[in-house]
Amino acid sequence: MKLRSQKNDVALRGEVTVAGDKSISHRALIFAALAHGRSKISGLLEGEDVLKTAAALRLMGVKIEKKENFWEVNGVGIAGLSEPEDVLDMGNSGTAARLMSGLVTPYNFTSFFTGDASLRKRPMGRVFEPIKQFGAKIISRQNALMPFAISGAKDALPIEYKMKMASAQVKSCILLASLAVRGTTTIFEPEKCRDHSEIMMRHLGLKIVTESWNSGTKISYSGLQEFDAKNFEIPGDISSAAFLIVAALLVKNSKIKIKNVGINPLRDGVVITLREMGGKIIFENEREIGGEKVADILVEHSELKAVEVPAGRASSMIDEFPIFAVAAANAKGITKMNGLAELKVKESNRLLMIANGLEACGVATKMGDDFLEVSGQKPGEISQPKNLVKISTAMDHRIAMSFLVMGLMMENGVEIDDDSMIATSFPTFKKIFAGFGVSFLES
Ligand code: S3P
Repeated sequence: MKLRSQKNDVALRGEVTVAGDKSISHRALIFAALAHGRSKISGLLEGEDVLKTAAALRLMGVKIEKKENFWEVNGVGIAGLSEPEDVLDMGNSGTAARLMSGLVTPYNFTSFFTGDASLRKRPMGRVFEPIKQFGAKIISRQNALMPFAISGAKDALPIEYKMKMASAQVKSCILLASLAVRGTTTIFEPEKCRDHSEIMMRHLGLKIVTESWNSGTKISYSGLQEFDAKNFEIPGDISSAAFLIVAALLVKNSKIKIKNVGINPLRDGVVITLREMGGKIIFENEREIGGEKVADILVEHSELKAVEVPAGRASSMIDEFPIFAVAAANAKGITKMNGLAELKVKESNRLLMIANGLEACGVATKMGDDFLEVSGQKPGEISQPKNLVKISTAMDHRIAMSFLVMGLMMENGVEIDDDSMIATSFPTFKKIFAGFGVSFLES
């Protein structure tokens, strides 16, 4: 469905909670599936991406049920999965595809994977390389694209693997494979990237060793450690909160509290950067849940000024660049974002989609192979297009949500061509804005 947003000066005020963290939700389901016994998961993101992981695990013999306030998973133990009888459809989710590929690597069976039109364009070679090193066989479309099949390695041997890019999905793929492999698997990550898998493994009592290695981490894990079920409490997703944070910073008189959000230091780059731009964002009631840092986030309308985002920070805000660019478009001066090469292989070519979308909104941009410059103006000073701006979202949930927020600053509004993908990560997005009195109109 097409959806429209328009400047209406309705301030965002009040307290909200956002949907559960997507990365942690996928991992909680997978680790619960491999535990001995029954786990309860509360706060699970009930978005389509995570439901794809649940469906795939069910196809491998894991009983997963939604109860009233939580999800219940009956673990089968490591190496307890059975051959999926059908193709594993990963939908729009790169995380589901790459993590589940690792999971099936050490099994003596064959799994077939596919995804939607967006996922079928995304590179899978990055996980094929370590998976093959474990001894599994892969058949895929040309250029390592989906659909593909993995014939697991019956007698997989541990690997030592230097990752070529800072990717938590690649790291987690290898860690999940290593769970059922005898011997010590070692991973070298070139730069630190989200460590939810490592945190969850420690929470479950697994012995995983991490040490600094250049500007990244060396991670070692000895497989075949069994573990008992534990309950999981999933915090709100900072990547979803980011849409509310930016909207509250931009819309005058706004003041909101987003309760119970994960603030893992490898995910909080967007907050650090927005603060550098003058954004009033405070973490309150900081605490730890299941090893993850959590806080309530207080945000107040602020006048923003441009900054330069260093390449080294990119992985800690990789999913937030679309909405961050909207903040930059409404901040005085030229904001330069560096280290963006990975944005080209997300749910869409986000580097291009952000630049094209902002240009359509009357914002000048300059795009390089791995950077983006946005010439921002104070809200009200952007030379506003005379008509409704039409944005194509290319099946990308974060492009859709970002430009709906951008529309709140646009006199003649913004229309996105399809809102359906929002359900992959933030099914309550529209409802939360409606609760603030900001409705997006169907066109
Ligand atoms: C994720 C890792 C990131 C991120 C994605 C979720 C994860 O991808 O963009 O949305 O849960 O591990 P990469 O690891 O490919 O950078």
